[in-house]
Amino acid sequence: MNISVLGTGYVGLVTGVCLANLGHNVTCYDIDKNKIELLKCGKVPFFEPQVEEFVIKNLLKNGINFTTDIKIATKDCDIVFIAVGTPQKENGEADLSYIENVAMQIGKNISAYTIIVNKSTVPIGTANLIKTIIENECDVEFDIISNPEFLREGSAVEDFLNPERIIIGSNSEKASEIINELYKDFLCPIVNTNIETAEMIKYASNAFLATKISFINEIANICEKVGADIDDVSHAMGLDSRIGNKFLNAGIGYGGSCFPKDIKALSNIALSHNYDFELLKSVIKVNCNQRLFLINKIQKLLGNLEGKKICIWGIAFKPDTDDIRESAAIDIINLLHNKSVVVNAYDPQANHEHIRNHEKITGEINLFSDKYEALKNCEALVVTTEWEEFKIPDFDKIKTYLINPTIIDGRNIYSPIKMKKIGFKYISIGRKEI
Ligand SMILES: NC(=O)c1ccc[n+]([C@@H]2O[C@H](COP(=O)([O-])OP(=O)(O)OC[C@H]3O[C@@H](n4cnc5c(N)ncnc54)[C@H](O)[C@@H]3O)[C@@H](O)[C@H]2O)c1
Repeated sequence: MNISVLGTGYVGLVTGVCLANLGHNVTCYDIDKNKIELLKCGKVPFFEPQVEEFVIKNLLKNGINFTTDIKIATKDCDIVFIAVGTPQKENGEADLSYIENVAMQIGKNISAYTIIVNKSTVPIGTANLIKTIIENECDVEFDIISNPEFLREGSAVEDFLNPERIIIGSNSEKASEIINELYKDFLCPIVNTNIETAEMIKYASNAFLATKISFINEIANICEKVGADIDDVSHAMGLDSRIGNKFLNAGIGYGGSCFPKDIKALSNIALSHNYDFELLKSVIKVNCNQRLFLINKIQKLLGNLEGKKICIWGIAFKPDTDDIRESAAIDIINLLHNKSVVVNAYDPQANHEHIRNHEKITGEINLFSDKYEALKNCEALVVTTEWEEFKIPDFDKIKTYLINPTIIDGRNIYSPIKMKKIGFKYISIGRKEI
């Protein structure tokens, strides 16, 4: 099929390259000229495993092309995917301006029957908004499908190609048949439903996962008080198939480009329908508090923090991505800045320029390209992202470089017993202090 994807971020680019790899003719469109120029040369403007290899392979096969020209993107197209951002507005609502803009462009440019498939995470009712905008711009026949995306950064290609379910929300039999055909070789359940339900499934799924994280974090906080061990608690809970073991790792809470904004957006959607989603409000609050608890622990361990230097390992919101949007590490860094701490930091992938220009970072960070160099003259190491390379470090080197052998483990990646044995002061989440 001839497919175009509007928006070439994590979701759009992965959708584009994966569909091209499956043999479709794909055109990826973005308003960001630099991004498109890089992609035309086979370079991916962000870190995501496998994507660059897929881009190069499909460029060589002429299966994919990149453009900033919406006319080229929509010409002779059977299906147009929307994958633009839906960031959070100041009041917590989803900002739909990118969606509105792209809908207008579609309306101005399609010239024959087209199926518009929305992959962006949007408030319930947004498909109708898209429909109205397009209708106001053209008389061409079209249908809208809601097809929310569940890929995870860090394993986005794998997730796109091997999803656990595909959701197709449609009010048109014709469009639904075509999209079911598009996904016919995917080995997973396909849930066909109406558009509003599809839009809700995405928010409900993210809200539930965030709830699991806040829940286990509260259990961890109680574990510390009663002498229980959160690792054993979550392991044992996870063995119950009704609960499952995923998203049960205690730590400093969730972050990233999806959970924080989606949870707030759902809370706002509920409010706009006069429903107070009490549980979600608590999920958000617990997540915020988890960062504060870590700072209190650091303070308890190191005393007055003013002027002290602390090293942070991990700025990306999770391992295997360079995405720092709403990262827990950034909250921790800002809270340390509030206490006049000098922050050294290292991340295997997060781009130094992006970090320096990040609007939410309140103070200076000394950024390093070597994790051990970052430790020099620091009072303690704080682990904020569970990158694989942090899991088995050279502890002797850590000891040599830090002023005092002190580790605050915000992701529970080390064993408290081992830490004691090798002579570290060590605190983590929901486990006994050593
Ligand atoms: N990142 C994830 O892990 C993930 C997973 C599932 C769903 N989602 C949802 O998918 C959507 C996209 O997320 P993302 O992380 O890929 O965003 P992103 O910020 O990485 O990419 C969005 C892209 O859209 C482009 N864009 C903005 N306006 C445009 C326009 N008018 N025309 C063409 N391109 C335009 C931007 O330049 C950018 O390249 C969001 O709604 C998000 O919530 C994201």
